[in-house]
Amino acid sequence: MQDRILHYLKKTEGYLSGEQFSRTFHISRAGIWKNMQELRKQGYDIVAVPHLGYKLISSPDKLLPFEIQGDLKTKILGKEVVHFDATPSTMDVAFQYGLDRYPEGTVICAESQTKGRGRLGRHWSSPKGKGLYASIILRPKVSPSQVAKLTLASAVAVSEAIYEVTKVKAAIKWPNDLMVNNKKLCGILTELQAEIDRVKFVVIGLGLNVNTSTSQLVEGATSLKNETNQSWSRVDVLKEILRRFEKWYLRIQKEGFDSVIERWKELSMTLNRRVRIVDPNGFIEGEAIDLDQDGGLLIRQDSGEIVKKLAGDVVLAH
Ligand code: BTN
Repeated sequence: MQDRILHYLKKTEGYLSGEQFSRTFHISRAGIWKNMQELRKQGYDIVAVPHLGYKLISSPDKLLPFEIQGDLKTKILGKEVVHFDATPSTMDVAFQYGLDRYPEGTVICAESQTKGRGRLGRHWSSPKGKGLYASIILRPKVSPSQVAKLTLASAVAVSEAIYEVTKVKAAIKWPNDLMVNNKKLCGILTELQAEIDRVKFVVIGLGLNVNTSTSQLVEGATSLKNETNQSWSRVDVLKEILRRFEKWYLRIQKEGFDSVIERWKELSMTLNRRVRIVDPNGFIEGEAIDLDQDGGLLIRQDSGEIVKKLAGDVVLAH
Protein backbone atom coordinates (compact mmCIF):
# COMPACT_ATOMS: atom_id res chain seq x y z
CA MET A 1 0.00 0.00 0.00
CA GLN A 2 2.77 2.46 0.98
CA ASP A 3 4.51 1.75 -2.31
CA ARG A 4 1.37 2.63 -4.26
CA ILE A 5 0.77 5.79 -2.24
CA LEU A 6 4.35 6.89 -2.84
CA HIS A 7 4.06 6.19 -6.53
CA TYR A 8 0.93 8.33 -6.67
CA LEU A 9 2.61 11.16 -4.74
CA LYS A 10 5.70 11.04 -6.94
CA LYS A 11 3.86 11.29 -10.22
CA THR A 12 1.77 14.27 -9.06
CA GLU A 13 3.14 17.83 -9.09
CA GLY A 14 0.51 19.53 -6.94
CA TYR A 15 -1.48 18.58 -3.86
CA LEU A 16 -3.64 15.47 -3.56
CA SER A 17 -6.56 15.57 -1.18
CA GLY A 18 -7.28 12.92 1.43
CA GLU A 19 -10.51 12.25 -0.41
CA GLN A 20 -8.69 11.58 -3.71
CA PHE A 21 -6.43 9.10 -1.91
CA SER A 22 -9.39 7.43 -0.19
CA ARG A 23 -11.19 6.97 -3.49
CA THR A 24 -8.11 5.69 -5.30
CA PHE A 25 -6.95 3.23 -2.64
CA HIS A 26 -10.29 2.33 -1.05
CA ILE A 27 -9.17 3.08 2.49
CA SER A 28 -10.37 5.64 5.03
CA ARG A 29 -8.80 9.08 5.35
CA ALA A 30 -7.49 8.01 8.76
CA GLY A 31 -5.85 5.04 7.03
CA ILE A 32 -4.22 7.38 4.52
CA TRP A 33 -2.96 9.61 7.32
CA LYS A 34 -1.43 6.58 9.06
CA ASN A 35 0.40 5.58 5.89
CA MET A 36 1.71 9.14 5.47
CA GLN A 37 3.06 9.00 9.02
CA GLU A 38 4.85 5.74 8.24
CA LEU A 39 6.42 7.26 5.12
CA ARG A 40 7.53 10.31 7.07
CA LYS A 41 9.23 8.00 9.56
CA GLN A 42 11.26 6.58 6.66
CA GLY A 43 12.42 10.10 5.77
CA TYR A 44 9.93 11.20 3.11
CA ASP A 45 9.06 14.87 3.60
CA ILE A 46 5.30 15.04 3.02
CA VAL A 47 3.38 18.21 3.85
CA ALA A 48 -0.33 18.21 4.64
CA VAL A 49 -2.18 21.50 4.04
CA PRO A 50 -5.82 21.92 5.17
CA HIS A 51 -8.28 22.00 2.22
CA LEU A 52 -5.49 21.15 -0.24
CA GLY A 53 -4.14 17.80 0.86
CA TYR A 54 -0.77 16.05 0.72
CA LYS A 55 2.32 16.83 -1.32
CA LEU A 56 5.71 15.10 -1.47
CA ILE A 57 8.47 17.67 -0.94
CA SER A 58 11.51 15.39 -0.96
CA SER A 59 12.59 11.78 -0.75
CA PRO A 60 15.30 10.58 1.64
CA ASP A 61 18.81 9.88 0.38
CA LYS A 62 18.48 6.25 1.40
CA LEU A 63 18.71 2.89 -0.34
CA LEU A 64 15.03 2.17 0.25
CA PRO A 65 13.37 -0.69 -1.67
CA PHE A 66 10.81 1.62 -3.28
CA GLU A 67 13.54 3.92 -4.60
CA ILE A 68 15.65 1.06 -5.96
CA GLN A 69 12.84 -0.92 -7.54
CA GLY A 70 11.13 1.98 -9.29
CA ASP A 71 12.04 1.86 -12.98
CA LEU A 72 14.63 -0.88 -12.36
CA LYS A 73 13.33 -3.18 -15.10
CA THR A 74 15.28 -6.29 -14.14
CA LYS A 75 13.98 -9.85 -14.17
CA ILE A 76 15.89 -11.29 -11.22
CA LEU A 77 18.18 -8.86 -9.41
CA GLY A 78 16.44 -6.51 -6.99
CA LYS A 79 13.00 -8.10 -7.24
CA GLU A 80 13.34 -8.35 -3.46
CA VAL A 81 15.22 -5.59 -1.62
CA VAL A 82 15.76 -5.51 2.13
CA HIS A 83 17.01 -2.32 3.73
CA PHE A 84 18.67 -1.70 7.10
CA ASP A 85 19.61 1.60 8.67
CA ALA A 86 22.45 -0.22 10.43
CA THR A 87 23.52 -3.84 10.59
CA PRO A 88 26.77 -5.57 11.57
CA SER A 89 27.34 -6.81 8.00
CA THR A 90 25.00 -7.26 5.01
CA MET A 91 27.00 -10.46 4.30
CA ASP A 92 25.73 -12.06 7.51
CA VAL A 93 22.13 -11.08 6.78
CA ALA A 94 22.39 -12.32 3.19
CA PHE A 95 23.92 -15.61 4.29
CA GLN A 96 21.08 -16.20 6.74
CA TYR A 97 18.50 -15.23 4.09
CA GLY A 98 20.23 -17.60 1.67
CA LEU A 99 19.71 -20.44 4.16
CA ASP A 100 16.12 -19.25 4.67
CA ARG A 101 15.44 -19.75 0.94
CA TYR A 102 15.05 -16.09 -0.01
CA PRO A 103 14.79 -15.91 -3.81
CA GLU A 104 17.69 -15.50 -6.17
CA GLY A 105 18.43 -11.82 -6.79
CA THR A 106 17.51 -10.65 -3.28
CA VAL A 107 19.51 -7.54 -2.41
CA ILE A 108 20.32 -6.62 1.18
CA CYS A 109 21.57 -3.07 1.63
CA ALA A 110 22.43 -0.93 4.61
CA GLU A 111 23.09 2.72 5.34
CA SER A 112 25.92 1.70 7.66
CA GLN A 113 27.65 -1.42 8.94
CA THR A 114 29.21 -1.86 12.34
CA LYS A 115 31.26 -4.92 11.35
CA GLY A 116 31.67 -4.52 7.59
CA ARG A 117 34.24 -7.01 6.36
CA GLY A 118 36.51 -7.32 3.36
CA ARG A 119 38.59 -10.10 1.88
CA LEU A 120 41.10 -11.93 4.05
CA GLY A 121 39.21 -10.95 7.21
CA ARG A 122 39.90 -7.23 6.80
CA HIS A 123 37.61 -4.52 8.16
CA TRP A 124 35.47 -2.55 5.67
CA SER A 125 34.84 1.00 6.79
CA SER A 126 31.13 1.78 6.32
CA PRO A 127 30.28 5.37 7.32
CA LYS A 128 26.57 6.10 7.46
CA GLY A 129 24.82 7.14 4.26
CA LYS A 130 28.08 7.66 2.35
CA GLY A 131 28.80 4.41 0.57
CA LEU A 132 27.01 1.58 -1.08
CA TYR A 133 27.02 -1.48 1.17
CA ALA A 134 25.05 -4.26 -0.46
CA SER A 135 24.97 -8.04 -0.73
CA ILE A 136 23.24 -9.96 -3.50
CA ILE A 137 22.04 -13.57 -3.21
CA LEU A 138 22.49 -15.72 -6.32
CA ARG A 139 21.60 -19.36 -6.88
CA PRO A 140 23.63 -20.29 -9.96
CA LYS A 141 23.64 -23.87 -11.20
CA VAL A 142 27.42 -24.16 -11.22
CA SER A 143 30.14 -26.02 -9.35
CA PRO A 144 32.06 -24.19 -6.60
CA SER A 145 35.09 -23.87 -8.90
CA GLN A 146 33.08 -21.63 -11.24
CA VAL A 147 32.21 -19.05 -8.61
CA ALA A 148 35.42 -17.03 -9.01
CA LYS A 149 34.28 -16.21 -12.55
CA LEU A 150 30.97 -14.94 -11.27
CA THR A 151 32.91 -12.52 -9.11
CA LEU A 152 34.82 -11.36 -12.19
CA ALA A 153 31.46 -10.68 -13.84
CA SER A 154 30.38 -8.57 -10.88
CA ALA A 155 33.57 -6.48 -11.11
CA VAL A 156 32.91 -5.90 -14.81
CA ALA A 157 29.30 -4.91 -14.09
CA VAL A 158 30.26 -2.46 -11.34
CA SER A 159 32.96 -0.84 -13.47
CA GLU A 160 30.52 -0.44 -16.38
CA ALA A 161 27.77 0.93 -14.11
CA ILE A 162 30.09 3.48 -12.52
CA TYR A 163 31.12 4.70 -15.96
CA GLU A 164 27.52 4.87 -17.16
CA VAL A 165 26.38 7.01 -14.21
CA THR A 166 29.46 9.14 -13.42
CA LYS A 167 31.85 8.76 -16.40
CA VAL A 168 34.56 7.72 -13.93
CA LYS A 169 36.76 4.98 -15.42
CA ALA A 170 37.45 2.35 -12.76
CA ALA A 171 40.00 -0.30 -13.68
CA ILE A 172 39.87 -3.83 -12.29
CA LYS A 173 42.77 -4.96 -10.17
CA TRP A 174 42.78 -8.75 -9.99
CA PRO A 175 40.77 -10.38 -8.70
CA ASN A 176 38.05 -7.80 -8.16
CA ASP A 177 39.09 -4.47 -6.73
CA LEU A 178 38.06 -1.38 -8.65
CA MET A 179 40.73 1.28 -8.78
CA VAL A 180 40.88 4.90 -9.85
CA ASN A 181 44.24 6.68 -9.99
CA ASN A 182 45.77 3.74 -8.12
CA LYS A 183 43.34 4.14 -5.23
CA LYS A 184 40.64 1.68 -4.24
CA LEU A 185 37.10 2.77 -5.06
CA CYS A 186 35.23 -0.50 -4.60
CA GLY A 187 35.81 -3.95 -3.15
CA ILE A 188 33.88 -7.13 -3.83
CA LEU A 189 33.59 -10.05 -1.44
CA THR A 190 32.17 -13.41 -2.47
CA GLU A 191 31.02 -16.05 -0.02
CA LEU A 192 29.24 -19.28 -0.78
CA GLN A 193 27.32 -22.19 0.65
CA ALA A 194 28.12 -25.32 -1.31
CA GLU A 195 28.45 -29.07 -1.44
CA ILE A 196 31.48 -30.66 -3.12
CA ASP A 197 30.06 -30.37 -6.63
CA ARG A 198 27.11 -28.01 -6.28
CA VAL A 199 26.66 -24.44 -5.18
CA LYS A 200 23.62 -23.87 -2.98
CA PHE A 201 23.92 -20.10 -3.05
CA VAL A 202 26.46 -17.35 -3.51
CA VAL A 203 26.53 -13.98 -1.78
CA ILE A 204 28.25 -11.17 -3.66
CA GLY A 205 29.04 -8.22 -1.37
CA LEU A 206 29.79 -4.78 -2.81
CA GLY A 207 31.41 -1.98 -0.90
CA LEU A 208 31.62 1.18 -3.01
CA ASN A 209 32.77 4.56 -1.71
CA VAL A 210 30.28 6.97 -3.25
CA ASN A 211 30.01 10.22 -1.28
CA THR A 212 32.65 9.40 1.29
CA SER A 213 34.65 12.52 2.09
CA THR A 214 38.44 12.53 2.12
CA SER A 215 38.61 12.57 5.92
CA GLN A 216 36.42 9.44 6.10
CA LEU A 217 38.43 7.43 3.58
CA VAL A 218 40.98 4.91 4.75
CA GLU A 219 44.52 5.17 3.39
CA GLY A 220 44.80 4.14 -0.24
CA ALA A 221 41.06 4.55 -0.87
CA THR A 222 39.08 6.99 -2.95
CA SER A 223 35.40 7.76 -3.55
CA LEU A 224 33.32 8.92 -6.50
CA LYS A 225 32.91 12.26 -4.76
CA ASN A 226 36.63 12.53 -4.21
CA GLU A 227 37.30 11.88 -7.90
CA THR A 228 34.64 14.18 -9.33
CA ASN A 229 34.06 16.87 -6.69
CA GLN A 230 30.37 16.17 -6.68
CA SER A 231 27.90 13.94 -4.85
CA TRP A 232 26.13 11.07 -6.58
CA SER A 233 22.85 9.29 -5.97
CA ARG A 234 23.67 5.95 -4.38
CA VAL A 235 20.28 4.71 -5.57
CA ASP A 236 21.12 5.49 -9.23
CA VAL A 237 24.49 3.78 -8.95
CA LEU A 238 23.04 0.66 -7.31
CA LYS A 239 20.24 0.42 -9.88
CA GLU A 240 22.71 0.55 -12.75
CA ILE A 241 24.91 -2.07 -11.07
CA LEU A 242 21.92 -4.42 -10.75
CA ARG A 243 20.94 -3.91 -14.39
CA ARG A 244 24.48 -4.51 -15.69
CA PHE A 245 25.16 -7.46 -13.40
CA GLU A 246 21.92 -9.13 -14.45
CA LYS A 247 22.81 -8.63 -18.10
CA TRP A 248 26.15 -10.38 -17.59
CA TYR A 249 24.65 -13.07 -15.37
CA LEU A 250 22.07 -14.02 -18.00
CA ARG A 251 24.66 -13.86 -20.78
CA ILE A 252 26.99 -16.19 -18.89
CA GLN A 253 24.18 -18.71 -18.50
CA LYS A 254 23.45 -18.56 -22.21
CA GLU A 255 26.91 -18.26 -23.74
CA GLY A 256 29.32 -19.35 -21.01
CA PHE A 257 32.01 -17.37 -19.27
CA ASP A 258 34.24 -16.52 -22.24
CA SER A 259 32.48 -13.27 -23.08
CA VAL A 260 32.86 -11.85 -19.59
CA ILE A 261 36.50 -12.89 -19.39
CA GLU A 262 37.20 -10.94 -22.58
CA ARG A 263 35.49 -7.85 -21.13
CA TRP A 264 37.34 -8.31 -17.83
CA LYS A 265 40.63 -8.26 -19.73
CA GLU A 266 39.67 -4.99 -21.43
CA LEU A 267 38.98 -3.35 -18.07
CA SER A 268 41.95 -4.90 -16.27
CA MET A 269 44.90 -2.92 -14.96
CA THR A 270 46.75 -6.06 -13.86
CA LEU A 271 47.51 -7.82 -17.14
CA ASN A 272 50.87 -7.25 -18.82
CA ARG A 273 52.24 -5.67 -15.66
CA ARG A 274 54.92 -6.81 -13.29
CA VAL A 275 53.17 -7.96 -10.13
CA ARG A 276 53.80 -9.40 -6.74
CA ILE A 277 51.06 -11.73 -5.46
CA VAL A 278 50.91 -12.00 -1.72
CA ASP A 279 49.04 -14.74 0.12
CA PRO A 280 49.33 -16.29 3.59
CA ASN A 281 52.04 -18.67 2.26
CA GLY A 282 54.34 -15.91 1.03
CA PHE A 283 54.62 -14.19 -2.33
CA ILE A 284 55.61 -14.69 -5.93
CA GLU A 285 56.74 -12.11 -8.46
CA GLY A 286 56.63 -11.92 -12.22
CA GLU A 287 54.65 -10.66 -15.18
CA ALA A 288 50.86 -11.12 -15.18
CA ILE A 289 50.44 -12.58 -18.65
CA ASP A 290 46.84 -13.78 -18.82
CA LEU A 291 43.63 -14.73 -17.12
CA ASP A 292 42.73 -18.38 -17.67
CA GLN A 293 39.31 -19.98 -18.11
CA ASP A 294 38.84 -20.41 -14.34
CA GLY A 295 39.51 -16.73 -13.65
CA GLY A 296 43.00 -17.61 -12.36
CA LEU A 297 45.87 -15.19 -12.97
CA LEU A 298 48.87 -16.58 -14.88
CA ILE A 299 52.21 -15.16 -13.81
CA ARG A 300 55.47 -15.71 -15.67
CA GLN A 301 58.22 -15.75 -13.07
CA ASP A 302 61.74 -14.57 -13.90
CA SER A 303 62.80 -18.22 -14.15
CA GLY A 304 60.32 -18.57 -17.04
CA GLU A 305 58.04 -20.82 -15.02
CA ILE A 306 54.33 -19.97 -15.33
CA VAL A 307 52.33 -20.11 -12.11
CA LYS A 308 48.56 -19.86 -11.76
CA LYS A 309 47.02 -18.02 -8.79
CA LEU A 310 43.35 -18.27 -7.84
CA ALA A 311 43.47 -15.99 -4.79
CA GLY A 312 45.75 -13.47 -3.16
CA ASP A 313 46.53 -9.78 -3.10
CA VAL A 314 48.23 -8.05 -6.00
CA VAL A 315 50.88 -5.41 -5.59
CA LEU A 316 51.59 -3.74 -8.91
CA ALA A 317 55.18 -2.94 -9.66
CA HIS A 318 55.99 0.05 -11.87
C1 BTN B 1 37.31 -6.22 -0.21
O1 BTN B 1 37.77 -5.46 -1.06
O2 BTN B 1 38.04 -6.72 0.64
C2 BTN B 1 35.83 -6.55 -0.24
C3 BTN B 1 35.00 -5.52 0.49
C4 BTN B 1 33.52 -5.85 0.51
C5 BTN B 1 32.73 -4.91 1.38
C6 BTN B 1 31.25 -5.15 1.27
S1 BTN B 1 30.30 -3.85 1.98
C7 BTN B 1 28.85 -4.81 1.80
C8 BTN B 1 29.22 -6.22 2.17
N1 BTN B 1 29.13 -6.40 3.61
C9 BTN B 1 30.32 -6.61 4.17
O3 BTN B 1 30.52 -6.78 5.38
N2 BTN B 1 31.27 -6.64 3.22
C10 BTN B 1 30.72 -6.42 1.90
